[in-house]
Amino acid sequence: MPSRVKPGRWRSEFLQLNSTHPPTTAVLKINMENTKMFMKRTKIIAALMLATAASIGNAAAEGGPSDMEIAHIAYTAGNLDIRYAHLALAKSDNPDVREFAELMIRDHTSVNDQALALLQKLGATPVDNATSQQLSANAKAKRDELAALDGAAFDRAYAENELGYHQFVNKTVETAFIPAADNKEFKSLLGSALAVFKIHEDHAEMMVKSLR
Ligand SMILES: [Fe+2]
Repeated sequence: MPSRVKPGRWRSEFLQLNSTHPPTTAVLKINMENTKMFMKRTKIIAALMLATAASIGNAAAEGGPSDMEIAHIAYTAGNLDIRYAHLALAKSDNPDVREFAELMIRDHTSVNDQALALLQKLGATPVDNATSQQLSANAKAKRDELAALDGAAFDRAYAENELGYHQFVNKTVETAFIPAADNKEFKSLLGSALAVFKIHEDHAEMMVKSLR
C-alpha cells in the first residue's frame, strides 16, 4: 500500500498555501518544509498501521487524496488558469502578455484533454472535493481583483498572479500529488503535465521581470 498523507492535514496544508496566493517564497518554503516533515511522519505512522492487519481498513479509510480527487483538483487548476488567460486576452494589449495567455489556453486545454481521455479509458470519474471548491472560490476572488485593473497595472498583476499560481500548483503536484497517485498511467500523466507547467512558471517569471 502506498504511503499517504492524512486528508485533513493534507488539505489544510494545501489550502494554507493557496490562501496566501500568490504565496511569497518564504511562505512557500515554510509550507513545503512542513509538508515534507509531515509526510515523513505520516510514512512512519502508515508503516505502523500496516503492521497490524486490523489497521489496514482504517488506513484505507483515512487515506490521502484519491487519484480521482487529485484528478479533479488538477483539472480544476488547469481550467482556472484558462479562465485567467481569457481575462488577460479580454483586457490586455501587451503582446507578451497575450502570447503567454494564448500559450496557457493551448497547453492547459491539451493537458486537460489528455486527462479526460485517460479517465475515459480507465472508466473513472473525477471526484469533487473541498480543495477543488476552495481553489475555485479563491480564483474567483482573484479574477474580480484583476478585472478591476487596467493597462500596465493589470499586466503586472496578471503576470505576478501567474507566477504565484504556477509556483504553488507545481509544488503541490510535485510533492503531494505525484507521490500520492496510485495508478501508473495517471502518475505518468501528472509527471508530463508538471514538465509543461514548469515551463509556464519560468515563462511567467520572465514576464514578471520584463513588466517591472
Ligand atoms: Fe499554465
